[in-house]
This record gives sequence, C-alpha cells and structure tokens, in this order.
Amino acid sequence: MSVRVAILGQGLVATHFEVGLERFKAGEIGAHGVPLADSILPYKPEDIDVVVAYDVDEKKIGRNAYEVARDLLDDGREIPRTLKDIDVRMGIHMETLKGTPFKAKGLDDEMNVEEAVDTLIDEWRSRRVDVVVNVITTEHGEPLGTAEAFREAVAGGGANLSASHIYAYALAEYSTRHGSAAFVNAIPTPLANDDGVLELYGQNRAVVFGDDGATGATPLTADLLEHMAERNRKVGFIVQFNIGGNTDFLALTLPEKNAMKELTKSSIVDDILGYDAPHYIKPTGYLKPLGDKKFVAMHMDYLSFNGARDELYVFARINDSPALAGLLVDLVRLAKVAVIKGQWGTIYPVNAFYMKRPGPPGYRSIAKNVGYELLKRWVSGDIVDLTEFHGTPFVESSS
Ligand SMILES: NC(=O)c1ccc[n+]([C@@H]2O[C@H](COP(=O)([O-])OP(=O)(O)OC[C@H]3O[C@@H](n4cnc5c(N)ncnc54)[C@H](O)[C@@H]3O)[C@@H](O)[C@H]2O)c1
Repeated sequence: MSVRVAILGQGLVATHFEVGLERFKAGEIGAHGVPLADSILPYKPEDIDVVVAYDVDEKKIGRNAYEVARDLLDDGREIPRTLKDIDVRMGIHMETLKGTPFKAKGLDDEMNVEEAVDTLIDEWRSRRVDVVVNVITTEHGEPLGTAEAFREAVAGGGANLSASHIYAYALAEYSTRHGSAAFVNAIPTPLANDDGVLELYGQNRAVVFGDDGATGATPLTADLLEHMAERNRKVGFIVQFNIGGNTDFLALTLPEKNAMKELTKSSIVDDILGYDAPHYIKPTGYLKPLGDKKFVAMHMDYLSFNGARDELYVFARINDSPALAGLLVDLVRLAKVAVIKGQWGTIYPVNAFYMKRPGPPGYRSIAKNVGYELLKRWVSGDIVDLTEFHGTPFVESSS
C-alpha cells in the first residue's frame, strides 16, 4: 500500500519534502513538523513514494531530484541517493516564470495545450500516480466559475489560464480516463476556491485540496486572532510582514504575484474576528542573505476590559520550505484517503487546517486549533456539520 506522488515545481519545498521523506525512511530524522505523523491514517509517511517531478527551469529539466537537491540544500548532511530515481521532466509553463531571472521552457512551447495535457496523463498513468502536488512558483490565476467554462478555456488553447489550471485540468482528465486521483494545491492560485474546478472535479470523480499551504506566521496569526475573539477583545489593528531570501520571495517582488499572496493571507482577519480590523499582512521583501529562514514581525493592538489598550509583538525567524514540506507529508496521505472515501470536489475539514484560504468558496478561514479538531473528526469518519462555517450547509458527496 503506497501513495504515489507526482511533484509540480522541483524547488525548495519539493526538495525538503523528498529529502525529508527519505531521511525519515532511513531512520535519520523523526517526523517532527508532520501534524498527523502518529495518527490513525491508513498510510504512514514511509508509504509515500515520489515517482516523478516536473519543472520548467531549463537548468532543472532532464536532471534528477538528487542533482537538484545538491544545488539547493546546504545543510551539511548527505543527500539521500534514492532521489536519483526521481526524474525532473518538462512541465507546462504558461509563462509562470515570466519576469523572473530564470530561463524557462515548457511542453506548451512544443505542442498545443490539449496535447500537453495528454502527455502528462500518459506519464502519470505509466507511473501509477495517485496524488499530484502543486508547489510551482506563485502565479496569477482567476477563478473560472463553471466546469463548462474551464473545458472551453482549455479547448480554446488555454491562453488566459495559469499553469496550475492546466495541471488541475490534466488531473481531472486523468481521473476520468484512468481512475480517481487527487490534486494538492499548496500555492495561492484559486483552485479549491473555484466553483468551476470543483464542478469539474465532481463530474470527473477527483479530489482537490487548497488553496495555499498555511505555514509560517499566518497560522500563528490565525490562532492569536481566535484567542482575541474568544476573550471578546477588540482588535484595533494588525501588522504582519515577512522578509525572506529564497526564490519564492524573489518571485513575490513582482506585484501581481504578491497580490495573490496578500489575498490568501488577509482573508483570515474578517473570517475569524467577524469584522475587518485594519490590517497589513503580506510578504514585504526579498533579502538574499536571509535565505530560506525568513524574518517575521507581527504587531497586534487590542482593547481589553475597562478601556485598557494592550499590544502584542512577535518576532521570529522561520525556515519556510521545511514547514510546508512537513504538511505535505499529511496532505498526500489525506488526499488518497479522500479518494478512497469517494468524496469528490474538495474537503473543507482538511483545507481548514492546512490551507491559508480553505476551499470551497464561501467557507471561512478559521483558527488552526479549531481546524485541527475538525480535521481529526473527519479522519475518524464522523459526519461533520459544517453549517457554522458557511451560510449554507455543505453537502459531502459520497459514492
Ligand atoms: N512555507 C513555504 O515555503 C510556502 C508556504 C505556502 C505556499 N508556498 C508556495 O509553494 C510554492 C513553492 O515554494 P518554493 O519555496 O519551493 O519555491 P521555489 O522557487 O524554490 O520553487 C518553485 C519551483 O517551481 C518551478 N516552476 C515555476 N513554474 C512552473 C511551472 N509552470 N511548472 C512546473 N514548475 C514550475 C520553478 O522553476 C521552481 O523550481 C510557491 O508558490 C509558494 O507560494 C510556500
């Protein structure tokens, strides 16, 4: 019993995921940073096999994960040689890396989008892929609204679609042709928050989790906001910013990519407090020497009893990519569980804990400690009433 994974975007997050998994399997590290490491999930972390990876950076295509990891990681420890088995193949570009310093090419430069989708599907089928994980560079993407609009956009050449949309479409088609599978969207492009994607996934019997993995300061902010809400303290304002030195932060210096991040991070304030306290929550800058260990600062002002004004300050240095990699160890296993349960579309109790902007559309971001309880109930098979997280009841389809 294994969970066979394809990775989109052989960058830092993917590398920490693959290297960490192999070190775990070899008994070199524990499963710290994996929330459900010891849970009742039917799959253990050692059951995960990454079987292929995709990238569009010319310097990565055609190499293997071991070679890429040797370039990216410098933690003084040996890179597991088993990563030599993971080929980095050419993905679909759709101009994700436009404006960045990287030279890129994709299947879409060599063939039309429908042929590129067929190519991916064939490659996934021959490797018996169960779950596809999206950790490509942050990119701009708009919701499509209906499955029909999604199909038409692909058939029309996909000109306005993001690479994430094309990959998500390929997974839906793969599910129809070769059996149900799942897509984990760890980046901000709205997929689990797009009714068009969810409708297509419902029709094609596929699962999507998303959007944007909740790591670093955002889940901490969410839990602190819940703390304020439960004590009926009135938050006056929140400032939270990040500065990092990895290529993800470099990409975020492009305004449209930063706007995507800001959207997923800011939705937590209104969702948790029930009012929109003035806030500034976004990645603010790139400073190379910080590397992957980003600097986070947070300042929250709030009103306590008898008109007292309190202030909270948090400063942190947080390793960015390993945090998301640890969550992926759960997400790929949960994705296979969702497929076995036959719950097509998306699963709010999973997204609410792991994602910054949990789908489906209309559902609130909640504090992660609240999300954790919801997640555990879903894993144990409880029927979870989600009415309080949305204006209308959420119906979990099962077949
Ligand atoms: N804690 C975190 O690090 C964290 C948290 C939440 C979300 N994310 C998201 O995860 C993603 C990856 O982060 P990272 O630090 O690994 O970035 P990275 O820049 O190290 O890696 C991204 C990789 O994706 C590749 N890529 C770009 N466009 C592609 C395409 N169309 N198809 C295939 N590959 C493509 C790039 O060449 C690069 O190798 C980002 O979108 C980021 O927003 C990261």
